[in-house]
Amino acid sequence: MKLTRVHFKLISLSIISLLLFITSCHEVSKDLASSDKYRLVWNDDPSSTMTIAWDQFEGETPVVLYGEKDFGRRDWRYKNKQVPSIIQNKYGMSTHFAKLSNLDADENYYFVIKDSKGVSERYWFKTAPDKPEQFTFIAGGDTKSVGPSLEAGKASNRLVAKLRPLFVLFSGDFTSGNGTNPEYWQQWLNDWHELTTTSDGRMIPIIPVHGNHENGNMANLSYIFNAPFQSNDSANIYNSLSLGGDLMHIIALNSEIEEGGLQREWLENDLKNHKDFTFKIAAYHKPFWPHTSSKREQEYQYNQWAGLFYEYGLSLSFDADSHMSKITFPIRPDSTENSCMGFIRDDENGTMFLGEGSWGAHPRKNDDDKPWTFTSGSFNGFKWGHVFPGHDNEPAHVKIYTVISADYYEGDEIILYDSIVEMLTDNNCFDIPENLKIHKLPDGKDYVIFPFK
Ligand SMILES: [Fe+2]
Repeated sequence: MKLTRVHFKLISLSIISLLLFITSCHEVSKDLASSDKYRLVWNDDPSSTMTIAWDQFEGETPVVLYGEKDFGRRDWRYKNKQVPSIIQNKYGMSTHFAKLSNLDADENYYFVIKDSKGVSERYWFKTAPDKPEQFTFIAGGDTKSVGPSLEAGKASNRLVAKLRPLFVLFSGDFTSGNGTNPEYWQQWLNDWHELTTTSDGRMIPIIPVHGNHENGNMANLSYIFNAPFQSNDSANIYNSLSLGGDLMHIIALNSEIEEGGLQREWLENDLKNHKDFTFKIAAYHKPFWPHTSSKREQEYQYNQWAGLFYEYGLSLSFDADSHMSKITFPIRPDSTENSCMGFIRDDENGTMFLGEGSWGAHPRKNDDDKPWTFTSGSFNGFKWGHVFPGHDNEPAHVKIYTVISADYYEGDEIILYDSIVEMLTDNNCFDIPENLKIHKLPDGKDYVIFPFK
């Protein structure tokens, strides 16, 4: 039979109708996926990878569907998919890790998690830039699982969502106890998911650091965040990553295992390999010399690391553990009579040490300042860094604000400061939101700048 133009028309109409029929068969799932406790982790190159983790409490065949276009919960429209490659059955959770790779730098990615029961809400994230660009980040540590300390931690979490940093550097101590209580981990992860996610579904990745309240199992952060470890030993949780080309290198150390030996060797190599980066940043849990008198000095740790920090020009160091706030002048190791605790101020070549972890845990007194302490305080909160690459006549610099999330009235009644804080957007995330409570510095300013002026 010879096909006429009419036949061709009929055939094309049928194909179009069939396609329309197939498309109309797709309906957004009314059911949610049977997973929760979503979190994003930076544990590799943050400009091309992202680890998505969740607890799969029911259902089967979970998969992350994602892409650069926002299709809401219409899961079939996303062009990429990734199944979880690691499952950890620990602490009453079936933690699934899906690592997305080959992502474009400085890009928004939208995703849903689909399983046999349904489709999750739509979330999204930003990858890090792979060349020097401005961004903000938050650094802090120390949360607790009960009482007012839990509430203070939630206030800090909610401020993460309001400030929308590129990432959070969390210097250890996630839960009360020794990090083996299933209920406490589940609560921490639920809070993190629900409170740090922005109102438009953006999730903020975390760089986790091991603290002493994780010591009940030295591999804890690999179970919870798939945190990288060294020497094929999951107890050796420390690693490093870079972002913004050669703008920033971040080293997550571990103060709860041998700081010398393998770790010192690894640290020296890592610092050597990244010595030309504009900003080199270290994070670890215990400060060398705490700014609260009830905490023990860490002389051994100072002996292992302080010399390397100076030799390779570490810019900033973020510790935690003491539950208060401190920022030092830039300092370097020194043993002359003008030094104190083995450090002397050196604005040109020193490292600024910031801490000491009061994300949620009840603030301790700042009663152990040193001659090289720039500022200290006793309240809940975190550090908020604004990073600017150099351009024209302005050199690269980091502006650091100390944000107060909670405080105690007459010593026992907690006051939370997050609810009245204005919510920032992606277009104004370098602004200071209205009603944000900032710890004033001795010079009356809201922020300190590195390199120090
Ligand atoms: Fe601690």
